[in-house]
Amino acid sequence: MNDSPECVDDRTARTVRREQYRPPPYLVDEIDLKIELDPQRTVVTACSRLRRNEACPGTASLVLDGEAIELLELELDGLPLAQGAWRRDAHSLTIDAPPERFVLRVVTSTAPASNTSLMGLYLSNGNFFTQCEAQGFRRITFFPDRPDVMSRYTVTLYAECERYPVLLSNGNLSETGVEAPAAGRAPRHWARWIDPFPKPSYLFALVAGTLVASEQEIDTRSGRTALLQAWVEPGEEDRTGHAMRALVDAIRWDEQRFGLELDLERFMIVAVSDFNMGAMENKGLNIFNTRYVFATPRLATDSDFFGIESVVAHEYFHNWTGNRVTCRDWFQLTLKEGLTVFRDQEFSADMLARQSSGQAEARSARAVKRIEDVRVLRAAQFPEDAGPMAHPIRPDAYQEINNFYTVTVYEKGAEVIRMLHTLVGEQGFQRGLALYFARHDGQAVTCDDFVAAIADANETDLGLFGRWYSQAGTPRLTVSAHHDPRACTYTLDIEQRTAPTAGQPDKAPVHIPIAVGLVGDDGKDIALRLRGAAHAAAQPRTTVVLELTESRQRFVFDEVARAPVPSLLRNFSAPVIVEYRYTASELAYLARHDSDPFNRWEAMQRLAVEAMLAVVSGATPQAAGEVLVDAAAALLDDARLDCAFRQLALALPPEGVLAEHLPVVDPLRVRSARDGLLAHLGVALRERWRDTWHALASDEPYAPTPSGAGRRSLRNAALSFWVRSGDGAAFDAAAAQFDGADNMTDRHAALQALVNSPASERVRALADYERMFADEPLAMDKWLAVQATMHRQPGDPAVLVHCLRNSYTHFATWLTG
Ligand code: BES
Ligand code: ZN
Repeated sequence: MNDSPECVDDRTARTVRREQYRPPPYLVDEIDLKIELDPQRTVVTACSRLRRNEACPGTASLVLDGEAIELLELELDGLPLAQGAWRRDAHSLTIDAPPERFVLRVVTSTAPASNTSLMGLYLSNGNFFTQCEAQGFRRITFFPDRPDVMSRYTVTLYAECERYPVLLSNGNLSETGVEAPAAGRAPRHWARWIDPFPKPSYLFALVAGTLVASEQEIDTRSGRTALLQAWVEPGEEDRTGHAMRALVDAIRWDEQRFGLELDLERFMIVAVSDFNMGAMENKGLNIFNTRYVFATPRLATDSDFFGIESVVAHEYFHNWTGNRVTCRDWFQLTLKEGLTVFRDQEFSADMLARQSSGQAEARSARAVKRIEDVRVLRAAQFPEDAGPMAHPIRPDAYQEINNFYTVTVYEKGAEVIRMLHTLVGEQGFQRGLALYFARHDGQAVTCDDFVAAIADANETDLGLFGRWYSQAGTPRLTVSAHHDPRACTYTLDIEQRTAPTAGQPDKAPVHIPIAVGLVGDDGKDIALRLRGAAHAAAQPRTTVVLELTESRQRFVFDEVARAPVPSLLRNFSAPVIVEYRYTASELAYLARHDSDPFNRWEAMQRLAVEAMLAVVSGATPQAAGEVLVDAAAALLDDARLDCAFRQLALALPPEGVLAEHLPVVDPLRVRSARDGLLAHLGVALRERWRDTWHALASDEPYAPTPSGAGRRSLRNAALSFWVRSGDGAAFDAAAAQFDGADNMTDRHAALQALVNSPASERVRALADYERMFADEPLAMDKWLAVQATMHRQPGDPAVLVHCLRNSYTHFATWLTG
């Protein structure tokens, strides 16, 4: 059969709109795929059982998506389809007026070896992999490639025994066999996989080739046994231990905190070096970029270890939030991504707090994760929300769905889920999720369905909350406070305003949960009596969640005898900017006493921003940094605080955050202000940095535990400040740490400190690193990044020239290799 000739690409920038959603006219209950793998020409035979969708009355043609594939055969209910009964263009195949129910058999071919898009079926180091989200399945066969068509898949893979001994797909392995030998052909074997759960096509996956697995069994909560496997290229087996541990922790955590269990006999993760994304949650067969699987102390930093734990968990958590219940259309992407990011954030926080003794310690350990997430939000999402690319977490239109996997959809999406959690509490949230699964298991649904489940399970009205899904931009809260010593009242007036964003000139008020505490003059939280609140009299609390739903609202606290310092937006309870005129001494007070660890950190950040702004407008770092230096010293000395937390509190906000505060940004001025303050902190606390670096040394073998990583992060921060002080002894310490480190965290930190200093050792260290890790692509990525982000020293050649000269050989080897 020949492809129709009229294959023209008419797809230049077609806009898809959310409001244009129509249910699919045909549903596919089952699909049986036979895939004969061959790098040059893979033949795919798809037999699908289709039926008219009752939700979509009227007559309709069947339109199947299909791109970059060749059509070989087309049969309906066992008979070849006549010319004229179907047509195709470059992106689809249309069959006019098919019956109510029928079986469609489509045979197509593709050329994986020449597929460089890394979408659909492709090769990496000679092995076969797929990537189907969002619209890659259409490069494998003709199919309604949209998430609201959910089908049960049976997949039989055929390939040469010798070259492709491992054949993997979704679900449970049902049967394997060897084909009868055919003359002139290398012997082939096959494997049949059955996925018992209906899924959208974007979750289909196959992996085939020469791979090896490390494996272990796990008993699920209800007593079933499942096999866990981590597949990698031969020789990399010893790098998967950490990822496997993370998978087991994720499985246990989802059982314990969310009551969600692994639903397959087998769960596989696979590492691949050619992969556009970080990782992908294909049902039962998660595929990862090698950088999110491989970890050994020699090659991976603490932050790599934590990143792997969080990505492995994220993809696993999609098994319920994304796979069992999926998105109706791609506009609902945040339904699965925002929710799953929220879940992986909570998982990581719980993992950090696992070994804590006592509530206060657990809170500060969890705050470390919260602070890291908020840093990302502020550094990447706030600017996106304030710029020309601003869009709501649930966009209204797109031209290319792949461009909508944004920090807004992911990170702000997770913040929106977190606000729901804050509004209804942990138990209420769990009730809501249980209702969500009871209602929607096996369905493709919308963000509104999710919010409705939370609201209904808690008998609360979240009508206004929906605006978070439709409105872009970061709300700005202006807070003013008034203490009346005679009436013993403390009043907060809060105003919200969201600046216009591209295409949305007028903004409405949104529903904002604002967690607030009042710190008294004894350094302790005041018991709060919020006027009008049900719990005020019964059981006063030290943190209350104010619900701002209007443009402007007043909240009054009674029985406040002496003026407190307000601790606003505790734990960053909403993705907003808070404007309140704190004095420097109030900030220093909060940095010292706030019971909310997030806000202790926040107070330090505000102090640092104030100091940086002062330097930008001409003050000396010495004058501008006075309060900051004292507060930093107090924090550094406070041994009751978690090391990781202290490190975060001592770090200056990145340059980009200052942009929020400046009408006109002069990047060079901002950089030199920040560098100036860093150097001043280095000099002013030089002995402390030196002593901290010495005191936190350890001769225990490296382990990527929260406490070990925390100790290293504070010690390496101390090293960096000490080096910035210009002390020759610090340069020697950094060089010694670089040479003597038994792990990448310390080696990388020492290299970073050296490269950003005038130390003569920096050139030698870069060269040594290059020699040590020339054969390790992931380690060389760090080497390039260190140079690409280094700050120029007086007399240096331009950074880019310097970096390119150093990197040229590596780029060249990679490009040609
Ligand atoms: N579903 C995505 C992977 C994906 C992203 C597929 C974009 C197609 C287009 C996956 O769950 C994911 O979100 N991966 C992230 C990492 C995660 C920890 C946030 C990624 O790949 O960066
Ligand atoms: Zn995801």
